[in-house]
Amino acid sequence: MCGIVGFTGLQAAAPMLLEGLKRLEYRGYDSAGIAVFGDGKIRTERATGRLENLCIQTQDGTAVPGACGIGHTRWATHGAPTEYNAHPHLSNDGKFAVVHNGIIENYAALREELMAHGYVFQSETDTEVVAHLLEMYYHGDLKSAVMKTVSRLEGSWALGILCADYPDRLVAVRYASPLILGIGVEENYFASDVTALIGHTRNVVYLEDGEFAELSPGKITVYDCVGAECKKTPVRVNWSMEAAEKGGYDHFMLKEIMEQPRALKAAIEPRIKGGRVVPDGIEMPQQWLEGISRIVITACGSAYHAGCVGRYVIEQLCRVPVQVEVASELRYRNPIIDEHVLVIVISQSGETADTIAAMKECKARGARTLAIVNVVNSTIAKLADDVMYTWAGPEIAVATTKGYTTQVAVLTMLAVYLADRLGRIDEAEYQKLVAGISALPERCQRSIDLNPHMDRLARKYHRHNALFFIGRNLDYAVCLEASLKLKEISYLHSEAYAAGELKHGTIALIEEGRPVVALCCHDALFDKMMANIKEVKARGAQVMGVAIEGDRRILAEADDVVFVPAADPMLLPISEVIPMQLFAYYVAKENGCDIDKPKNLAKSVTVE
Ligand code: M6R
Repeated sequence: MCGIVGFTGLQAAAPMLLEGLKRLEYRGYDSAGIAVFGDGKIRTERATGRLENLCIQTQDGTAVPGACGIGHTRWATHGAPTEYNAHPHLSNDGKFAVVHNGIIENYAALREELMAHGYVFQSETDTEVVAHLLEMYYHGDLKSAVMKTVSRLEGSWALGILCADYPDRLVAVRYASPLILGIGVEENYFASDVTALIGHTRNVVYLEDGEFAELSPGKITVYDCVGAECKKTPVRVNWSMEAAEKGGYDHFMLKEIMEQPRALKAAIEPRIKGGRVVPDGIEMPQQWLEGISRIVITACGSAYHAGCVGRYVIEQLCRVPVQVEVASELRYRNPIIDEHVLVIVISQSGETADTIAAMKECKARGARTLAIVNVVNSTIAKLADDVMYTWAGPEIAVATTKGYTTQVAVLTMLAVYLADRLGRIDEAEYQKLVAGISALPERCQRSIDLNPHMDRLARKYHRHNALFFIGRNLDYAVCLEASLKLKEISYLHSEAYAAGELKHGTIALIEEGRPVVALCCHDALFDKMMANIKEVKARGAQVMGVAIEGDRRILAEADDVVFVPAADPMLLPISEVIPMQLFAYYVAKENGCDIDKPKNLAKSVTVE
């Protein structure tokens, strides 16, 4: 996710900005830039790739004079990770420089309006509209120009603004994207998280949504959204640097689990407009779509498991046959694929070697490819005919969490969208699903609230050397991911089974005390699951049942119960997997494992 810093004081700003950006590197980025007011004008320096490139370009900041400036690390969303898309962005008159975190959702309309007024755009970013709006609304009163500009924006933003008419002043604006002010002695700062500040000050002010602030070396003034001054009480931060990077959490994995409501919001909200699913980046011709013979989903690891969820949902809604296959198998088996097949390729990193190879194989056979990817402009995104980004933000922990749930959310939206285009979904069901999808971020928060309960259950089960996850239909697809999560970070042996398959072999492994996690959220298959639970209990298993809130039938059989909020069955996987992520996390923690960097694993598997 992008990082923002701002500095105003008596010493050179550029080295301070670079140091702050260095502290934000862990958030992930693909380009960086600074803007500093010096020698009577704003000067910007931007570079793609590592921050090191910007440091070399500016001689560690010493080549950029001035004591007031803003900086940014960009994680590409709108537009490729190029120098011209890197922040800060300047207004045409060079008076304003802007850095931004978040997404300006109405940027396309604003861009058209500004171009009609003669403003010339230098980048493909959503952010640049802010610089031009500031120029348009500025008539000598900075505060009023900022307020007018912000009133035109839709979406989310943390903005850092530099204006050449106010050489020692910065403006910081927050709406739905974090921004923190740092109070120093004869110098003040802002940053998108405290990590960038605590090398200099531990006294901070948290801006709330709608608030903005003016900072000069000796003063910070905070205003509410109507411009009235508001009193803020500084907070003292005692975190270590490492804790600060993790937002106060012990591990990136836990931080990323907790970020899921926000990540899902970013994946869903821009794609639901006026009650319709409006995916960006899909240009599939209608006639071709109506002629497809089947859909093939290919991916690796958790992305493959997201595909398994996708298969149920797409088949159910679109009535098109869907095959899901791990990429490393598909690529080598001379697959029967032609120009009537839609291939959906799923990858968080967009760089997984096997997935890229399988995708190329399918393309060579004439298939149309649609990529569901997190990292913008990654290889898979570039190779695909159509792309749906998951907008989960950078994922640092090797074990994916928000990467997986946003993939599931995007697949579900895609299923609804395709079903509509194929005329296979009635309006009532369409509306019901769209409402359910829109509610996912809030509903997923309720699964996250199970945090202490999952911690308790992990303490009970962490000593067992083998666990089983059983479920049917979509619950089985979730079991696959729950089991992978547990084994990859806790090193416990665990397996996922379609519950109906147990008696065909696996049940031989059930013995006294063996933990079995039974996902029973599918009402239509509840009785079948209860029968399976009875079978394993009869052989001594301890059962942790996962069921829908209020469904007390599970209490009769399970030793422990996890209740998840009710929803349409097709929307349940996200609610179900979150407690399983938490369970895996706490089991690994109890067992003293290196959670963020499990042994033998890499975040991005770029070799075969
Ligand atoms: O970047 P990708 O989504 O293509 O990665 C695929 C797998 O390597 C990945 O999901 C892996 O299984 C994770 N470690 C699971 O947590």
